[in-house]
Amino acid sequence: MTTVHRSGFLSEFLRAPGTVAAITPSGPSLADAVTIPIPRDGDPVVLELGPGTGAFTLAVQQRLAGRGHHLAIEINERFAAALAADFPRVRVATADACELQNVLTASGFEQADVIVSGLPWAAFAPGRQDDLLAAIVGGLTPGGVFCTFAYTSTRWMPPARRLRQRLADHFDEVLACRTVWANVPPAFVYYCRRPRPRRLTDRGATAGTGDRHATVVTR
Ligand SMILES: C[S@@+](CC[C@H](N)C(=O)[O-])C[C@H]1O[C@@H](n2cnc3c(N)ncnc32)[C@H](O)[C@@H]1O
Repeated sequence: MTTVHRSGFLSEFLRAPGTVAAITPSGPSLADAVTIPIPRDGDPVVLELGPGTGAFTLAVQQRLAGRGHHLAIEINERFAAALAADFPRVRVATADACELQNVLTASGFEQADVIVSGLPWAAFAPGRQDDLLAAIVGGLTPGGVFCTFAYTSTRWMPPARRLRQRLADHFDEVLACRTVWANVPPAFVYYCRRPRPRRLTDRGATAGTGDRHATVVTR
């Protein structure tokens, strides 16, 4: 068992509350929901952002079942080291998710087919959200899917509403699944498809105004 698992997710939260932003890792039901868009055939490139102790990492690996490529970017050095030890098939980069293009390039890829995020969006300032989403849009194939989760209890709070608007700014289609009540705390997943061309999402141009017709649906 790794040092991080012994010391626990909670102690990493106490060390860095602004980046870990949760006192407990996600549960398997949410991990299943967030990894559903990973295709069950072929060799997809899956990029995971903010894996923490690997709640989503395990589900991605199970879904890939030995196929494809799995890259992970974690800013916390202790989490990243533990993850690399626990998941030898995953290429783990200790970096800021904003650097995702460099991480993809260093692994020989231009873009990912699926980007799975465990990032704490509500903890990010608006400019930071925009920078990250611009990097994600740039790192996704035109037919790719971006999946990220949010907590149901904070769904209508300003940071969560801002994220939803930003997702609609950056993607042509944004679907939200039903609440995963088995998760602690209950959460849901956004599935974002058809990334918008950069000229439509440049900060100061249209970001924040959004396409009123962008789909935000609960299913
Ligand atoms: C809420 S935890 C989620 C961890 C895990 N995905 C889960 O669901 O249990 C957020 C994770 O994102 C990482 N993180 C925060 N900001 C990041 C950034 N800019 N780049 C990469 N990782 C980041 C944190 O260190 C932490 O591991």
